[in-house]
Amino acid sequence: MLKINIFRLFPRAVAAASLLAFVAACAQSQTATDEWPTVTSPVVQDPAMEARIAQIVAGMTLRQKIGQMTQADIRSITPDEVREHYIGSILNGGGAWPQGNKHATVKDWADLAGAYYRASMTTDMAVQIPVIWGTDAVHGHNNVFGATLFPHNIGLGAAHDPELVGRIAAETARQVRATGITWSFAPTVAVVQSPRWGRTYESYSSDPALVRDYAHAFVRGLQGDIAGPDAVMASVKHFIGDGGTHGGIDQGETRAPLADLIATHAPGYYGALEAGVQTVMVSYSSWTDSKAGASHGKMHGNRALITDVLKGRLGFDGLVVSDWNAIEQVDGCTKAHCPQAVNAGIDLFMVPDDWKAFIDNTVADVEDGAVPMSRIDDAVTRIIRVKMRSGLFEQSPVPAADRSGAIASDDGEALAREAVAKSLVLLKNRRPGLFPLPRDARILLVGRGADSVVAQLGGWSLTWQGDGTDDADFPQADDMLSALRKAVSDGGRVDFSVDAAGVDPRDYDVVIAVLSETPYAEMKGDIRLPGTLRHSDRYPQDLAVLKAVSGKGVPVVSILYSGRPVYANDLINRSDAFIAAWLPGTEATGIADVLFGDRDFTGRLPFDWPGAACPESSARPVLFARGHGLRAAETAKLRELPLDKVASCPMLDE
Ligand code: GLC
Repeated sequence: MLKINIFRLFPRAVAAASLLAFVAACAQSQTATDEWPTVTSPVVQDPAMEARIAQIVAGMTLRQKIGQMTQADIRSITPDEVREHYIGSILNGGGAWPQGNKHATVKDWADLAGAYYRASMTTDMAVQIPVIWGTDAVHGHNNVFGATLFPHNIGLGAAHDPELVGRIAAETARQVRATGITWSFAPTVAVVQSPRWGRTYESYSSDPALVRDYAHAFVRGLQGDIAGPDAVMASVKHFIGDGGTHGGIDQGETRAPLADLIATHAPGYYGALEAGVQTVMVSYSSWTDSKAGASHGKMHGNRALITDVLKGRLGFDGLVVSDWNAIEQVDGCTKAHCPQAVNAGIDLFMVPDDWKAFIDNTVADVEDGAVPMSRIDDAVTRIIRVKMRSGLFEQSPVPAADRSGAIASDDGEALAREAVAKSLVLLKNRRPGLFPLPRDARILLVGRGADSVVAQLGGWSLTWQGDGTDDADFPQADDMLSALRKAVSDGGRVDFSVDAAGVDPRDYDVVIAVLSETPYAEMKGDIRLPGTLRHSDRYPQDLAVLKAVSGKGVPVVSILYSGRPVYANDLINRSDAFIAAWLPGTEATGIADVLFGDRDFTGRLPFDWPGAACPESSARPVLFARGHGLRAAETAKLRELPLDKVASCPMLDE
């Protein structure tokens, strides 16, 4: 295909047009920044450091500068190429491991980090600039074999415990640093408006105030004093409004007045900025100011919000990173070329595979005048500033040899077990005295989630989607079956049957049914209209197993692993007790601790729980309001819930 690059044929004309477009865009998408509350970061600029940074930038060539602004995936770049192209950052996307080995050891990770670091420090530059490695450690160091995986954010939101979140972040930082990595793309501070979104479980809550407190605690826990040996740079994401898209469509359009964008979707950024967060990741989504009737397009091209608000009004002086190939979604851009995104204020570009073309195209943009050198210098200054603050210039990220062992630890497992226990929400209990279960009980355990570690982990667990793995990939984990068997006394017993076929519940004292979603991540987890939120529409075997065991005079305790609140009246009706367990991670022992009374049920809903299969169009959209949650001793005589028979939902207005 003949590709004509108009930047080459008519450079001056295109440059002038681009600059005019750039100025016009600034004017058009000008957001009244004074509507945004101000915020102060505890991290103040060090004049000596700033002078050193300016001196380094002044000594760099254009290609070296653009190389610094480039982030490539470890599957697409070698250490030698990092050296040759002056690459500023690398990442391991979900499912990327050293040498493509899912069971790579901590030492394998640390050795690879050392190879990339040494390559970045042996370029022909006047001053060497260390590469920084970013990873999605979003519920522990979840890409690494053997790591302790904590509950996903939705479960932490149910715990309503910022101090716990801070401890989890600190333990996660310890695990991440053990592998030679110093940057994590967390926390997600989305304030989810629809559980249809496939990333609902990455959100703490629909309560902006809780998200703000959690963001602060997480960033403080992960970054610590920023330059310490266990410090990991945080990345608050995805700026801004990712959780508010129309219909809960991933990477979709958030329609909200500016005042709502600020009040609902911004609090997590304020919490993170007040904790000194050093990086911000931009959202795939777009924003339409529904009050002003103004479409501001994809966030990756939104200069008013990234530069005028985040960097100007809010004073953010760290680096802004794009999301995975997200620049291609900006009008007129490709995954390897987007002057609009550079001019919008993005500093570091996650161009996992097409990084060579991105460098060439962006160098040409500067040479053609489509991107001013001042913008490039601002970006490189920010990138070096974050690296220098984090100590990378003074110390290799490769941990001392004694740290290259396993990363799971007794303390980490105990912390995860505590978090699981605190995350559980007892939605229903109609049997006084049901809890705590006696340890000598005869237990029938059923359901597709009961002996599946994979089901309790969800997405971002060794792989992006949480698929392509099995329990053998998580030898450190306990599923519900092993957790119960560890918890019962000699007189007790636990028999497992996935579907209760040929089993008589009347031979047991209690039935425990573990229901679950199948893991997913991002857009693959979206429940698009006209689909309903009815769990048993997507997982009929869960309703089938409850039909098999309920109504036999033996109490049924249902436990649901899900990444979101779902419509489950049909399941709740067939349960004496119903527990939302979210995506608990590797330590199902935390669930057993609550069932047998070592801990009480303290979790409370972080989101409303649906009372209809199509909440958007129902007069009774909520069954349990956010904040609902029973203690073990509480019994609520829940009436037989009405069964919404609707098979599909009406589409929303476009
Ligand atoms: C993904 C996600 C983002 C993640 C990034 C790197 O698409 O949107 O949250 O940090 O890519 O894996």
